[in-house]
Amino acid sequence: MTDKYRPLKDAFGRFATGIGVAACRNAAGEISAITINSFTSVSLEPPLVLWCLENRASTYSAFMNADSYSVSILRADQQAASQRFAHFLPDGPREEEFENWVTGAPILKERLAGFDCKVAARHDAGDHIILVGEVVRFDSVDGAPLLYFASNYIQGTPAT
Ligand SMILES: Cc1cc2nc3c(=O)[nH]c(=O)nc-3n(C[C@H](O)[C@H](O)[C@H](O)COP(=O)(O)O)c2cc1C
Repeated sequence: MTDKYRPLKDAFGRFATGIGVAACRNAAGEISAITINSFTSVSLEPPLVLWCLENRASTYSAFMNADSYSVSILRADQQAASQRFAHFLPDGPREEEFENWVTGAPILKERLAGFDCKVAARHDAGDHIILVGEVVRFDSVDGAPLLYFASNYIQGTPAT
């Protein structure tokens, strides 16, 4: 079956991005996590970020009901994590690979950068919802990023 959105996806996909994993606790207190490349920094004062969640995602209700979430930015060697949290592989999130900072949202221990966020706003946007978060704690380390371009992973090399 042909995908009528393929040409638009191909054009959107020419914008190279990093890859993150957004995570929150669902109503049962379990970890819900999803691979994302729609993460964007928005504001320094106050510190705000956003990302976009598809309405049909299995994690949708968890993120709609949570008042906080984290975003972990992936390193070049974390392609398997990207595949897992995109739910392309059967193994789900494990408590021991996450830690908790301020908001109670679980955040990946392995990361290039981390953002612990209070949900500041939710905006309907077509078949996605935009989740704006106020950053209450963050960190970063030096290293190479995992990148996404034209539906392919690229192991980035930082410019020197
Ligand atoms: C590199 C990459 C980036 C993605 N970015 C997003 C995103 O920004 N927002 C989103 O809703 N889904 C994104 N997805 C799709 C989700 O990770 C996931 O595959 C989708 O929600 C299907 O999972 P489900 O069947 O459990 O709902 C991305 C997937 C990959 C591999």
